[in-house]
Amino acid sequence: MIEARGQWSGRLGFVLAASGSAIGLGNLWKFPYITWQNGGGAFVLVYLLSILLIGLPIMMAEIMIGRRTGKSTIPALQEMGGKGWGLVGVMGVLAGFVILGYYSVIAGWAISSFWECLNWSISGYRAPDSGAFGAFVSNGPLQLALSGAFSLATIGVVWLGVSKGIERVTKILMPMLFVIMLYFLVTVLTMDGASRALSFMFTPNFADLPPLGILEAVGHSFFTLSLGMGLMITYGSYLKKDMSVTKVSGLVVGLDTLVALVATMIMFTIIFSFPGVEEQVGKSTVGMLFITLPNLFYTGMPGGAILGPLFFVLVGFAALTSTISLLEVMVAYFIDGRGMKRSSATMLSGAGTYVSTVFCALSLGAVGWMSSFELFPGKQGVLNTLDHLASNWMLPLGGLFITIFVGWKLDKRLSLEELKLTDDGGQPSIYFKLWRIVIRYVAPAAIIAVIIAVITGKDFS
Ligand code: PHE
Repeated sequence: MIEARGQWSGRLGFVLAASGSAIGLGNLWKFPYITWQNGGGAFVLVYLLSILLIGLPIMMAEIMIGRRTGKSTIPALQEMGGKGWGLVGVMGVLAGFVILGYYSVIAGWAISSFWECLNWSISGYRAPDSGAFGAFVSNGPLQLALSGAFSLATIGVVWLGVSKGIERVTKILMPMLFVIMLYFLVTVLTMDGASRALSFMFTPNFADLPPLGILEAVGHSFFTLSLGMGLMITYGSYLKKDMSVTKVSGLVVGLDTLVALVATMIMFTIIFSFPGVEEQVGKSTVGMLFITLPNLFYTGMPGGAILGPLFFVLVGFAALTSTISLLEVMVAYFIDGRGMKRSSATMLSGAGTYVSTVFCALSLGAVGWMSSFELFPGKQGVLNTLDHLASNWMLPLGGLFITIFVGWKLDKRLSLEELKLTDDGGQPSIYFKLWRIVIRYVAPAAIIAVIIAVITGKDFS
């Protein structure tokens, strides 16, 4: 049974695929700009704490459920908890659908930024005029083509299956991504702004942290680690029985955090090294990755002609290993839950999601009503609405249910058996006790605080 549904070849295969899912636009695009908006050091510290106290324990919980049942999100929760808990899985699969729909649009921008940089590298830099980005995002046919190309790449990989598609691609792309990042890090460390970037990120000054920044850090921990939608249940279901859930969770969480910190360090060093850029970034933090950086590569950065295109290869790779994981959650449901063949499950999920992508791609100015549509105050357009819905509601809520399920419903002995956190005498070790306390009390309390903050109007997207 397990062989028939696919399996990771080993620990490395799982760790690279799962960290491929975790590492994405959340690390390269979102984390740097929310760190900026929330004043630096103190925010980073709170973020690290919430990764450790909420992210890691929930990562362990999700992988554990998947590995134990050997099933994807919905059937796994149904098997362990009954029909009602299956609904949490349904919300998870829906969250995957929602996120994939808009994520592919932003991921498509990496293709065009790559193209633009490549052109500049070959035929010389021409500064774009200030309205260029606006014109770009509101060009409907172009947005459809870029997101369509990205969706096709995603479908192609998932079509090939767990070990032949996802694992093989992540085993190539992730090491490349790490090498490119390292190259960037070494390059920027020699730049003037490096020490300022370091102290901005690592000197906590709580006066600079807006109070709700704490909750933003918690909310982002879900998004960046791909938690709260049962994705790691599905990925964990392909994990062999003799692998340690605790170790692989630690590795995935560690790698994701490292990449977020290194990406932020790279970005801030570049920004602090060029006069005048800070003000520009201050005006559009969201555009930091796609507007500010490409220009900087060609205005005084040594080796910029090579680094520019390379940087967007990195962004594209990181995004692709995330989109394939999102699609896989849906595909795995159709295979496990509906008995479909992988090829038809992939076509159905991929084509279905692209319909939502079409709406998102046209909602940045191309089609009036799609762009002005407003369900949540201040979130205009389909893309922004879906991002808000998933990051602020679906993921934290899903995460809350997972903590309640594992902490309060599931037999403690079962968790102990799966996590294998025992001392020499076979009794629960101190780490297991800590994990239980966190998953029963600390994590749910923090998530409830996030949800209350969202209800009272704070936005995490
Ligand atoms: N973790 C991914 C990122 O940081 C986004 C993602 C969220 C992927 C939820 C899958 C599930 O970009």
